Amino acid sequence: MNANPDIKTADSEPDWDAARTRFPVLEAKTYLNSCAYGALATDVNEAFQRYLNDRLEKGTDWAYWVERNDCVRTAVADFLGATTDEIAVTTSASAGINSIASALKFEGSRKKVVISDYEFPTSAQIWYAQEARGANVVRVAEKDGYIPVEQFAAAIDDDTLIVAVTQVCFRHGARLDIPAIAEIARKKGALLLVDGYQGLGTIDFDVHTVAPDFVVGGMLKYLLGTAGIGFLYVRQPLIESLVPTVTGWFAQSDIFAMDSTRYDPASNARRFEMGTPPVPNCYAAEAGLKILAEFGLPAIERRIFELTASIVNEVKSAGYTLAVPDNPERRGAMITIRSHDEFALVAALDSQGIVTSSRNGNLRISPHFYNNQDDIDTLFRALRQQKHLLV
Ligand SMILES: Cc1ncc(COP(=O)(O)O)c(C=O)c1O
Repeated sequence: MNANPDIKTADSEPDWDAARTRFPVLEAKTYLNSCAYGALATDVNEAFQRYLNDRLEKGTDWAYWVERNDCVRTAVADFLGATTDEIAVTTSASAGINSIASALKFEGSRKKVVISDYEFPTSAQIWYAQEARGANVVRVAEKDGYIPVEQFAAAIDDDTLIVAVTQVCFRHGARLDIPAIAEIARKKGALLLVDGYQGLGTIDFDVHTVAPDFVVGGMLKYLLGTAGIGFLYVRQPLIESLVPTVTGWFAQSDIFAMDSTRYDPASNARRFEMGTPPVPNCYAAEAGLKILAEFGLPAIERRIFELTASIVNEVKSAGYTLAVPDNPERRGAMITIRSHDEFALVAALDSQGIVTSSRNGNLRISPHFYNNQDDIDTLFRALRQQKHLLV
């Protein structure tokens, strides 16, 4: 992904203060909750408005709407270093995982699905649902606050059909060593699916470097779009060997043939799509991805690293307990701290205009490039007043 030179400052980093003005919520709130929902950019707001205006002025415009869907496909392909033929535009990460699961056969000796303790419920549940079709789901356990790669090496074997793991855990922000897991899966002849929902948009990720077989994600968090739209990447050589049984008319080789007499899946990753695309969400997702392309993922990753390093330092100097690993290579954009009462803590912060979230006893602090040190200072001033809620 190339950064636009026009937005570079003299020291060649983007002007983050200027970027911040494109997210109006930041004027009203200290918004540190991008792991739950990214802040709404004026560009994305305008994109939604454009959709409504198009509806008011033109009524229907299917050719243009299919083009919007294809623009999202192209933007996701650019973002991942993939080709457009390798991208399905879905309505959720679940839709992409289900499509792949439906195309797999759990037969012979390769029936094992390796997941981990870090999975978002949907990605674990979908694989457990495949047990009715013969899958044998094995869950790699967390040990001493992390899942080291050796745990995956012990679980992935010649019986493994697919390894389906998250990039960053939604509960505490621990980041798995995906390149190392990919290498283990490859050596054992197993497929690898990465759930990038909590990582993509914050970590520069190129499918040629990591070489996963599948990647799923969604647009509502760090990709700055909206709920109701996601994507699935499928590595080119695999596409035609996978025939999804969860399907629909937008997955057919000629959508508008309207042929009700047979199933004729597209030769590219569109075969993993289903019904009518989420048209308004395509407008929004396109606008969100455009912002990321403008700044470039390497700069965004550097910016987030600076912010998360500062948060970790504040946590340590205040004597709070980190729930995410301290090692920067083992965490993403979400920093978590232990709380005696996470709900009371989130509510107390909210009453001071500070937006965070929680999971499993952890306060989740999740900056994006649009946050700054003032946001972090505001948060830690407020946390000092809530010390009794922190471990
Ligand atoms: C890691 C991860 N995977 C998946 C999802 C959501 O999946 P879906 O788009 O199917 O709702 C989330 C949402 O929070 C998530 O954090």
